[in-house]
Amino acid sequence: MIQPGATYVVMGLLDADSIAYAIGKGIEQGGGHVIYTVQNERLKRLFLDRSEKLPEAEKSALRFEFCDVLEDAQVAQLFERTGPIAGVVHSIAYANPKTCLGSDFHTEATDDLKTAFHISCVSLATVARYAYRHMPDGGSIVAMTFESRLAFPYYNWMGVNKAALEAVVRGLARRHGRDLVRVNAISAGPLTTKAAKAIPHFAYLARLWRKTSPLPWDTINDKTEVANAALFLLGPYSKKITGQIVHVDGGASIIGGDLLSMERMPEQHAEAAVMGDSSELQA
Ligand SMILES: NC(=O)c1ccc[n+]([C@@H]2O[C@H](COP(=O)([O-])OP(=O)(O)OC[C@H]3O[C@@H](n4cnc5c(N)ncnc54)[C@H](O)[C@@H]3O)[C@@H](O)[C@H]2O)c1
Repeated sequence: MIQPGATYVVMGLLDADSIAYAIGKGIEQGGGHVIYTVQNERLKRLFLDRSEKLPEAEKSALRFEFCDVLEDAQVAQLFERTGPIAGVVHSIAYANPKTCLGSDFHTEATDDLKTAFHISCVSLATVARYAYRHMPDGGSIVAMTFESRLAFPYYNWMGVNKAALEAVVRGLARRHGRDLVRVNAISAGPLTTKAAKAIPHFAYLARLWRKTSPLPWDTINDKTEVANAALFLLGPYSKKITGQIVHVDGGASIIGGDLLSMERMPEQHAEAAVMGDSSELQA
């Protein structure tokens, strides 16, 4: 679904569990070239180099560049080095879990809030500002978001950042139509990654999805489904789609209340029983 032979920059690779990695794999399987970005050398040593899920041969074949999006110069230099590209995936977010996420929404850590906003939201605009000049035939930018119209427990200020990120997507879509550069985001359901594990009580979100998603939602294997949607948005079949938030979440975002027992697939019913969701089974 992507443009075979074209080069795509996939930002935010931490390890083989990263959504960035699933998208990069999909691009390669579609015949595209991938340049990943890793935040810095230290994180590469800690996570990518030690990742047991990646065979050594594959690790050494990965093409990657270091890029910390807090430094505009690093973003500018990244796109100087990539040459012409057809698309960019922004799969980056960070908020200090001790101060920006957790049981109380209130926090005094204003500096942490600013850093989270810079990394998780402003950086998409920075990336677009430097990337679009390297898309001579137009292109596509895809960001990653999480349902931001609802206030989830524990997700607190990351929810605020995701709402702002989605507004940036719309602003950039308006700005870059003239360059034939499309800008969209995928709103994914909860997926097991390092960033997700840093969210306090991530398991609660995963359980919530089991209760509310009309389609079964698998927090590990559905990364591939999220990646497939990214390939669609990166490639030529979505040429007239821009400024959109595409929900790849099993449909949980359109459901009011929990799914009733009779609305679940038999497998979901059985799984709920294993998880001890007896109240849902009685609903
Ligand atoms: N995992 C989920 O449940 C889920 C759901 C919806 C959306 N998302 C979003 O998907 C994106 C990717 O997250 P993931 O779940 O794959 O986790 P991940 O931990 O694998 O990826 C997050 C990446 O952000 C990078 N990053 C953080 N600060 C950075 C900085 N200053 N400069 C450059 N890179 C930086 C990290 O190094 C890491 O590679 C994020 O935007 C996340 O909010 C995740």
